[in-house]
Amino acid sequence: MKIAVIGCGYLGAVHAAAMASLGYETVGVDVDAAKVERLRRGEPPFYEPGLPELLKGGVDAGTLRFTTEVAEAAGADVVFIAVGTPQLAGSDAADLAYVDAAIASLLPHLTERSLIAGKSTVPVGTARRLAEMVAPTGASLAWNPEFLREGFAVQDTLAPDRLVYGVQRGDDASVATLDTVYASILARGTERLVMDYATAELVKVSANAFLATKISFINAMAELAETVGADVTQLADAIGLDARIGRRFLNAGLGFGGGCLPKDIRAFQARAEELGHGEALGFLREVDQINLRRRDRMAWLVERELAAVGGDRVGMLGLAFKPDSDDVRDSPALDVCRILERGGRRVTAYDPQARETAGRSMPTLDIVGSVEDAVRHADVIALGTEWQEFRDLDPERIGALTGARVVVDGRNALDAQRWSAAGFKVVGLGRPEVEAA
Ligand code: UDX
Repeated sequence: MKIAVIGCGYLGAVHAAAMASLGYETVGVDVDAAKVERLRRGEPPFYEPGLPELLKGGVDAGTLRFTTEVAEAAGADVVFIAVGTPQLAGSDAADLAYVDAAIASLLPHLTERSLIAGKSTVPVGTARRLAEMVAPTGASLAWNPEFLREGFAVQDTLAPDRLVYGVQRGDDASVATLDTVYASILARGTERLVMDYATAELVKVSANAFLATKISFINAMAELAETVGADVTQLADAIGLDARIGRRFLNAGLGFGGGCLPKDIRAFQARAEELGHGEALGFLREVDQINLRRRDRMAWLVERELAAVGGDRVGMLGLAFKPDSDDVRDSPALDVCRILERGGRRVTAYDPQARETAGRSMPTLDIVGSVEDAVRHADVIALGTEWQEFRDLDPERIGALTGARVVVDGRNALDAQRWSAAGFKVVGLGRPEVEAA
């Protein structure tokens, strides 16, 4: 079986490498020549655990190729569409230009043997429109959304919770082709659900909307907890023990960022409005607002602590939108740096992987190469991303190399008692402050 993957970003590069690792002859196509050049050498253009090994394995075995020529997708049994659907400039809606361009460029290379499988996150109704575009070629189209999380992308692709196929009614051939592609995953008993296009598209956006809502729910509780002196982390533990609620995705803190949740909930709502049902998803506006308010709150807390010690220097630990990623798209941590800098504060930041990406996104930010350099001259330490490296820090050692005696923990990730015992005041989000012992 021959596979082509159009778009080699987070989704496509991982999918192409995963397909090659399953033994398929795979070609990844991307318009970005520099990215293709790196991928050809087996180097991912972004940080993702496990991906370098997978890429190199495929490239060295000769089963995985990368090209800028879409013509090389000709003859593929399945062409996966994995291009981005970013937020449209000046609007909340998704920009489908890359998806449309990918399909248009494929048209001359499709035959009635070809199956296009869309993976990109798209507004409901897109697959039906694309199916009409490809119909004259005789090719088939399925929507096969992807649920991968950055940091776990390889695992989520090769061992997903479920496979979802959106197909046209009665299109058993496309179902059979996808079953062949995913045979080894299905053989492990992975659930596979076959449905229509619209439902498959909605599965993806509603899953993301639910996750975002869960995070904002607990962050709304954090806002109230701050007002009444309660502890949101204990609250999350207690309600999370109810199996109907569950503890996962109930970590209060700086909230969600990244290339998916923020833009996907906005696009979902924009699509509902286009469909005349904006009221059904009106709550997502609140979800977005709660999420963004946490960044202001964190910046406010840092400002308050700076004022208390008469300083203006912040040591920021973490810039990526979440640990195990170098992605700073819509990163809460980076946003806090922006707010603080706008307020005239001097921020020195460190992130284990996001130095380059953050530097490109915020060239004015002073980014250093170690925790030590970030905190040495700080008046207040702030934690923006809960990397394991930060959880493992020895507060006694940090205390010995900086004059700062306050840490604002934007992810409620540090052991407050340990930091307190080492002489730090610990300020979390949605929980009572712990004074230095
Ligand atoms: C998400 C979805 O999880 C994935 O299924 C979809 O395919 C793409 O979008 P991702 O963006 O990689 O994946 O990150 P995720 O692990 O979902 O975290 C999103 C954000 O929420 C991060 O900024 C994270 O720090 C934050 N988060 C997560 C919380 O603030 N609290 C939590 O309890 C969990």
